[in-house]
Amino acid sequence: MSFKPLRILVLMHEDLVPPASLRGHSKKEIVMWKTEFDVVSTLKKMGHEVQPLGVHDDLGVIRKALAEWQPHIAFNLLEEFHGSSLFDHHIASYMELMRQPYTGCNPRGLLLAHDKAMCKKIFSFHRIRTPSFVVFPRGARVRAPRKLRYPLFVKSLYEEGSYGIAQASIVGTEEKLRERVAFLHEQLDTAVIAEEYIEGREFYLSLIGNERVQALPVLEMEFGTIPEDAPRIATSKIKWDLRYQKRHGIDVKPAVGLDAQQLEKLQRLGKRIYRLLELSGYARIDLRVTVSGEVYVLEANANPDVGSGEEMCVAAAAVGIDYPGLLQKILALGLHYQPELRGF
Ligand SMILES: Nc1ncnc2c1ncn2[C@@H]1O[C@H](COP(=O)(O)OP(=O)(O)O)[C@@H](O)[C@H]1O
Ligand SMILES: [Mg+2]
Repeated sequence: MSFKPLRILVLMHEDLVPPASLRGHSKKEIVMWKTEFDVVSTLKKMGHEVQPLGVHDDLGVIRKALAEWQPHIAFNLLEEFHGSSLFDHHIASYMELMRQPYTGCNPRGLLLAHDKAMCKKIFSFHRIRTPSFVVFPRGARVRAPRKLRYPLFVKSLYEEGSYGIAQASIVGTEEKLRERVAFLHEQLDTAVIAEEYIEGREFYLSLIGNERVQALPVLEMEFGTIPEDAPRIATSKIKWDLRYQKRHGIDVKPAVGLDAQQLEKLQRLGKRIYRLLELSGYARIDLRVTVSGEVYVLEANANPDVGSGEEMCVAAAAVGIDYPGLLQKILALGLHYQPELRGF
């Protein structure tokens, strides 16, 4: 495929600006900036002019690059500012204020999707099933939730990528709940959400689009041969430890064993959520289905990982969209996106 060459400024964290080649770097190093490397190197191979730009806490470097280089589009891989992931939507806002086309989700969708509790309130209003929950802000006393059924699942209100998630995230008693909440408050320095633990199969819905949304094939998390007594949850070890994944056959694959009707129902749910949370660009929604077939939505990810081999790409590949094709679609959506048309 040939693409019209674009000037693409790739925004990323300054520590993650990738080298020109993987040669001489250990697997452990590569995993840190693999997505940045994949996006930059593939865009180049596609014939685009690409400039990676590392950002930490200075909008000036972005402003300068926009003024000097006049990119057609900014590819937004920047997930934090000043070291805080809570500022991610401000980057998209800045792009809009600069009238700079950019990829991925709009500021409002980023803001909503980032707050797991806010999403769940929206889901409840629209009668979309999601685990019941309670939020423990930092510094607040942990009051035992009366209305929730143990075991509970304890996680950061807004961290991503299974950060802070381990077997100990599942707590069976009030005492364990207090312990885990205190641990997360201290370790992650974020508010914590505790919600009912949902036993079941885990699925991922990948979606792409602005006004018109396309649902890609449903993926399932396969926990492979992890010990029977280990809870089947995506801990940070399961998500990031490549050796452990290989050893236990842990993989994310197109869902098997669901009939066409069930798959379509999940895809429709995905599209509905995409609209309710006002997402744009591309997103992934994580959910669980119990043995009796109840669907519980866990969370929505705006701007999910687009490293080659990550869920978005596996789902796209399942309908014949290769990696360059996916990146090009993401660029086209960014170029066509018109902030003022969104209404609010
Ligand atoms: N209520 C829950 N019940 C069962 N498993 C859960 C629950 N919440 C999270 N998990 C497990 O933890 C993983 C990560 O949680 P998630 O909310 O998706 O956070 P992250 O933003 O880190 O991906 C999920 O993929 C799932 O395996
Ligand atoms: Mg998740």
